[in-house]
Amino acid sequence: MPVLDISSYAEDFNADPYPYYARLREAGPVHRVTLVGEGGGDVWLVVGHEEARAALNHPGLSKNWQASEYFEQIAASAVNNHMLEADPPRHTRLRKLVAREFTARRVEALRPLVQRVTDERLDAMAADGARRADLIRSLAFPLPMTVICELLGVPDLDREAFRTWSNEVVAPTTAANSSWALSETARYLTALIEDKRARPGEDLLSGLIRDSDEDGDRLTQDELIAMAFLLLVAGHETTVNLISNGVRALLAHPDQLAALRADWSLLDGAVEEMLRYDGPVEGATFRFASEDLEIGGVPIGAGEAVLVSLASADRDPERFPDPDTFDIRRAPQGHLAFGHGIHFCLGAPLARMEGRIAVRSLLERFPDLAADPDAGPHEWIPGTLIRGVKQLPVRW
Ligand code: HEM
Repeated sequence: MPVLDISSYAEDFNADPYPYYARLREAGPVHRVTLVGEGGGDVWLVVGHEEARAALNHPGLSKNWQASEYFEQIAASAVNNHMLEADPPRHTRLRKLVAREFTARRVEALRPLVQRVTDERLDAMAADGARRADLIRSLAFPLPMTVICELLGVPDLDREAFRTWSNEVVAPTTAANSSWALSETARYLTALIEDKRARPGEDLLSGLIRDSDEDGDRLTQDELIAMAFLLLVAGHETTVNLISNGVRALLAHPDQLAALRADWSLLDGAVEEMLRYDGPVEGATFRFASEDLEIGGVPIGAGEAVLVSLASADRDPERFPDPDTFDIRRAPQGHLAFGHGIHFCLGAPLARMEGRIAVRSLLERFPDLAADPDAGPHEWIPGTLIRGVKQLPVRW
């Protein structure tokens, strides 16, 4: 099968990948492609919904990239040695040690914190006489970042520095910048964990340092660093873009916005539709074939890399009729925005709560909220992992 080069339309592709995915889906559910800005490697790209689901659940597709040759240019780093880069039984063990902190009940207890942080950010926006703001800087970034820092017990985290490294890790500008960001993060988190060890509290990180589970198991120092890294990065990079992609979709569809403002019982469904229509995670993290296998009838050789496009899967007309229409009444059950299978997002209940509270509180506080007509074209986050804009200028 010929290799399709998607790097030649990188900029257009980042701004609006959906027409490209639509054309790919029409040609078949699985393709060999050259990637945009990811070191130029060839990978298998899964674009059909059923095939994406099958790939995410396939025991022959490994997450342990250190066992593959694809990423040999990236130095192994302690921070990457976490559950999202592990297969069972190691994955099962790591996930079990932290899963109890993210149950729906535990997350419900965070509701007052999420509402308080949201209200503080909205107060600060309202107090600014300019009546315009970058919604990412004002709300979409500080909300999930503050919540995950409070939950982990690292309120003094140097958020601007961490954000710079974290952005570089999820959307690398160059391989050198990405390794620099990984080593800076490892250095910073090592110091942070040492500090926690010396001054423990009632927070999640202190709990992970102190407690063992019922089998007497607990995390090693390297595993702690990797767990803190994963939770800090996964806890904010994605939710930022749920809020900003979601608000962007609402502002671009005034009829949907008006329907939501008129009936808040539509809120939960609206957030699910935001996740389906323009979710924060464009492509799942890489998987590698640990054996020869087939996805959607296409043979994939042992050792080859596979990228599952969640963005494409959630616009597959076979699964969602009229998929390019943003319809908050659609009930888009079964979307893949949080992944599928054993790596299904651990933070989904928290992300949903943050998204619902942020969107409702923002719209209630600013009845005239609109996209800023004076802002230039959007700047898009590069790469195939995260989908979103770098700034979201709004006015009211
Ligand atoms: C709207 C926001 C979010 C979205 C769209 C999202 C999406 C995802 C996706 C697609 C995966 C699976 C990736 C793969 O299989 O390659 C994942 C895994 C994960 N997410 Fe999220 N996420 C969000 C928020 C969060 C939050 C708030 C947290 C933590 C506080 C979190 C923690 C994790 C963890 C720990 C994993 C790895 C699970 C495992 O390997 O078993 N996520 N997320």
